[in-house]
Amino acid sequence: MSTSTASSQPSKSTAANSQVQFVSPQFFSKKTFTTEEKPKDVRHNNILAAKTLADIVRTSLGPRGMDKMIKDSKGHVTITNDGATIVNQLQVLHPTAKMLVETSKAQDIAAGDGTTTVVVLAGALLGQAQILLDKNIEPAVIADGFSEACAEAEKILNKMEKPVDLDDFDSLVQNCVTSLSSKVVSNYSQILAPIAVKSVLQLVKSGNLVNNEVDLRDIKVRKKIGGTLEDTEMLEGIIFTDNKVSHSAGGPTKVVDPKIGLIQFCISSPKTEMENSIVVQEYSQMDRVLKEERAYIIKMVKKIQKTGCNVLLIQKSILRDAVNDLALHFLAKAKILVIRDIEREDVDFICKTINCKPIAHIDSFTPDKLGTAKLCEEVVLSEGSKVVKITGVPNESKTMSILVRGSNHLLLDEAERSLHDALCVVRSIVKRKAMVPGGSAPETEIAVKLTELSSSTEGFKSYCIKAFADALEVIPYTLAENAGLNPINIVTELRNKHLNGESSSGINVKKGIISDMFEEKVIQPSLVTLSALKLATEVVRMILKIDDIVICR
Ligand SMILES: Nc1ncnc2c1ncn2[C@@H]1O[C@H](COP(=O)(O)OP(=O)(O)OP(=O)(O)O)[C@@H](O)[C@H]1O
Ligand SMILES: [Mg+2]
Repeated sequence: MSTSTASSQPSKSTAANSQVQFVSPQFFSKKTFTTEEKPKDVRHNNILAAKTLADIVRTSLGPRGMDKMIKDSKGHVTITNDGATIVNQLQVLHPTAKMLVETSKAQDIAAGDGTTTVVVLAGALLGQAQILLDKNIEPAVIADGFSEACAEAEKILNKMEKPVDLDDFDSLVQNCVTSLSSKVVSNYSQILAPIAVKSVLQLVKSGNLVNNEVDLRDIKVRKKIGGTLEDTEMLEGIIFTDNKVSHSAGGPTKVVDPKIGLIQFCISSPKTEMENSIVVQEYSQMDRVLKEERAYIIKMVKKIQKTGCNVLLIQKSILRDAVNDLALHFLAKAKILVIRDIEREDVDFICKTINCKPIAHIDSFTPDKLGTAKLCEEVVLSEGSKVVKITGVPNESKTMSILVRGSNHLLLDEAERSLHDALCVVRSIVKRKAMVPGGSAPETEIAVKLTELSSSTEGFKSYCIKAFADALEVIPYTLAENAGLNPINIVTELRNKHLNGESSSGINVKKGIISDMFEEKVIQPSLVTLSALKLATEVVRMILKIDDIVICR
């Protein structure tokens, strides 16, 4: 009896088993993953997503690389060759692809240039990692192998580099030219490169360094439509492009030996904190309100004039008009040049340049807070537009301003990004005074040396080092491919040259041959290449170690 009951009411575990069997075994293994399959599939998908992103930017690498035209949801169009900008604008959704975007941004911060290289390298490393995974090598072993290979690569790179002296102006310019050569504005590299070098060197000369690093926020790049890139100029001082000099009541537009005050309060009648209205019933009351306003503003203007201030910079206010017509009228009468709409983010730069202190209240408007210069004037540019320049700043200028000119917004924006890369190149050299040859010479040299090392290493590590070496060849391969050369022939020839000890041989993209990159003056900062290698390895290690994606709601 008891036996029959047991058989008619199967135990819970049996029920579960029958349920499992009800779902076909094939379906179970594919859709809900067995413990072994799931990490494999997750890893495979992650690698695929990241490689797809890398493939998108691959065609942009090198002087013959193509540009991308990106249109965002608002219809705003960007034309660029800059890796960080491309991946950033793509609005990537996959989490691992996003990691590559972040890596590109990290390279932009660390070195400024090499943001395409880092993504392409990471893509190639992931490709090689997938091959190793297919051979059933553990992801952790691959990650460690890549990390060791990267450390070896750094040593090889150190042996290749040449020291750069900051007095060697030509070498610095040449480094910038290499960086600019892949940009839309490459035709103007002979104008932009010296500007970038001089600007950064000025900061070095004035001792404006923190931990041996130049803060590029001290170089203000302004853009103004009109003219050509050849009209781009640099000056020790400040250039305002969007801030209007007030012309009301015939105020001055040029002041020699200006005493400059920067105010953060409003010169207009005060308002109550809450919204309220005043009902004026008689004319005499109205008259009194206006008189009070006049008296209030005149008092302020007189106080400002008394300090000797003759140029007034007024910060933008979001609460009310920072300055009203009446105030502009009295300021003009007092012969004070007024520049309106100063952005909050520019305040630090202005203070550093002209040695002034921002003034938050009229009561603290004292002469010691004023900045000085030789000249402040409104300049009319060739095609009629106006900018304001403050020049002749005291002592060694701790900041620099660059005015970029161009015929349209797309070109101006790309010129600004390219100039940023060039400035970063000089900054990288100031930080680490060494350069390596370009044209994929370092990547090939590292690949050749690591291949040699892998043959003398044992076990899985040997596979990982060889895979790392193979991945690096993506750079010469892509440079050749983008230049319309035969990549296999070029890479083989290049490899042979490096095997024969010609460590600075690279692809001369313009002539389509292989030559000595130091002689061709295709040089780049060591820091850019090193940082790209390290960051790419780091992100690949991270991606390899992910075995699951958990979505939380
Ligand atoms: N004249 C040249 N001849 C050969 N190779 C060059 C030359 N100029 C630059 N290169 C190579 O091109 C590569 C850089 O290309 P590119 O500037 O397009 O990408 P990136 O620097 O990685 O990214 P980005 O500039 O977008 O931040 C480097 O490997 C560099 O050595
Ligand atoms: Mg570059």
